[in-house]
Amino acid sequence: MNASCPVENRLELSVVVPCYNECDNVEPLFKALISALEGRKWEVIFVDDNSPDDTIKQVWRLAQQDRRIRGILRVGRRGLSSAVIEGVLSSSAECVAVIDGDMQHDETLLPMMLDAVLQDHYDFAVGSRHVEGGDNTGLANRWRLFLSNTGIRISQQFLPVTLNDPMSGFFLLRRSMFIELLPTLSGTGFKILLDLVMSASSSIRLKEIPFQFRQRLFGESKLGFKVMIQFLFMLMQKLFKTSVKKK
Ligand code: GDD
Ligand code: MN
Repeated sequence: MNASCPVENRLELSVVVPCYNECDNVEPLFKALISALEGRKWEVIFVDDNSPDDTIKQVWRLAQQDRRIRGILRVGRRGLSSAVIEGVLSSSAECVAVIDGDMQHDETLLPMMLDAVLQDHYDFAVGSRHVEGGDNTGLANRWRLFLSNTGIRISQQFLPVTLNDPMSGFFLLRRSMFIELLPTLSGTGFKILLDLVMSASSSIRLKEIPFQFRQRLFGESKLGFKVMIQFLFMLMQKLFKTSVKKK
């Protein structure tokens, strides 16, 4: 028996979606991905932390009809970054992308991001609200805007390369690169891109692609005081080079 998969059937991309209480957004996002990624070999993995609104049931319902979608249910744990890590670990595609589950990110950019990495050999393609053409109006209020801008200014001090939107949660990279960086990740909180880039070397090539941060479709943001504390904790872990995974 020949176990190898014909090259034309190999997965190019796993889209990883951390989700918590996003039941009404699952189907719209899946449909949007179907049209955005037409002609590409892809799958989407929703990673749900046992949401009270039964988000995972929406995922499983669609998964019974279409093999491009699947879900991971985590019980007794919470966290955007750690959910992303587990989603990536369940993938075997060439590249992985991370996108929010509330339609705030622009999924139509995924093919361009994929080409930036696969054809133009960038290490990271980042959906950016802070390069020309990008827009941040989807942030809920001025307080969120202030927090986001302050976070950006703090984190830019510690990055090995220029990244105008280190707080973005919308990015794509080779899976092998993610796995290489994995042992040094903090995995705490919301900022998995920042976590990854802070762990990377100064020789990485990073392409920022402008996008307009949309209003959330249904539901509400999970960013609260605890997430802000986690952000500072994550920065400390990175600066003192400690990692939860190493212990
Ligand atoms: N599995 C899991 N567990 N998913 C989570 C958790 C969690 O504990 N907390 C949040 N999520 C999911 C949400 O359901 C959503 O799909 C995504 O992670 C982003 O969460 P939001 O609560 O919508 O975040 P936001 O809109 O406040 O923040 C956005 O802007 C930041 C930049 O200001 C996100 O895009 C962040 O990724 C981004 O860094
Ligand atoms: Mn959101």
